[in-house]
Amino acid sequence: MTPSPKSPITKAIFPVAGLGTRFLPATKAQPKEMLPVVDKPLIQYAVEEAYAAGVREMIFVTGRHKRPIEDHFDMTFELEVALEQAGKQELLDVVRSVKPDDMECIYVRQAQALGLGHAVLCGQRLVGNEPFAVLLADDLMVGETPILKQMVEQFADWRASILAVQEVPAEHTRRYGIVAGTQVNDQLMDVNRIVEKPAPEVAPSRLGVAGRYILTPGVFHEIANQPRGVGGEIQLTDGIAGLLRREKVFAYRYDGKRYDCGSKEGFLQANVELALAHPQLGPGFREFLQGLSL
Ligand code: UTP
Repeated sequence: MTPSPKSPITKAIFPVAGLGTRFLPATKAQPKEMLPVVDKPLIQYAVEEAYAAGVREMIFVTGRHKRPIEDHFDMTFELEVALEQAGKQELLDVVRSVKPDDMECIYVRQAQALGLGHAVLCGQRLVGNEPFAVLLADDLMVGETPILKQMVEQFADWRASILAVQEVPAEHTRRYGIVAGTQVNDQLMDVNRIVEKPAPEVAPSRLGVAGRYILTPGVFHEIANQPRGVGGEIQLTDGIAGLLRREKVFAYRYDGKRYDCGSKEGFLQANVELALAHPQLGPGFREFLQGLSL
């Protein structure tokens, strides 16, 4: 494995063991992370984002029904031979580019979906004592500079945990970890409070955490020592709240857009916008949409 070009973050955890109840029945027997947006499964977007940020060790925290994710990043021998024999070089490149040679995929099981904090904790031994990224693949993030790359640049400056945040409508605070703190500059906040899924009346701000984190390894100890939080789950937010008492944590307003593809609405929006932006499909799809009587 060749080292990534000077990135201070080389490992990422992808928690993919959730039940995906918001997307039933599609997620009854297949992971939501394998749902395709245009022509790529959600998990591939997240892995490509991490790779672009210099991450080379991808740690997937999986559960039951998640085999398709392992298969997706594995070699598909028969398919590659068939494409080679048919002279379909372009498709062969597409298939092979899913897992570049210098990228390593490691899988660890979360036996029970006890919460996002618990899923992250399952990656502790593989991460060891270094800072790492967490990417939630159901948040599809699009930016001119990949969102995690923006965050790694912030990490290089501050050497502290960085949480991706965005402003959310007041009526949606119950869906997010919400942060408050002191503004450092236009995009960065020195966080002094984080609360999981507060009601709008008690939310300390409207800045909600999106599914991208860079965390220092101290967070593992904090997660392990938290009691169960909102919904009876072991919450990552509570671990970060513990970390805050010992270390600096920054909230970073990223440049770009997030689609909540764990919800049917966000998933449909992502498909429409990414299809419109697709170099080959875009023009025809735009024409199709314009022809609809809406
Ligand atoms: P979500 O709450 O969005 O995912 O968790 P979910 O539980 O799969 O979906 P719904 O709410 O029932 O529709 C955020 C991320 O954390 C992972 C999920 O896979 C998702 O990527 N997760 C959550 C785990 O890996 N393990 C858990 O115990 C909980």
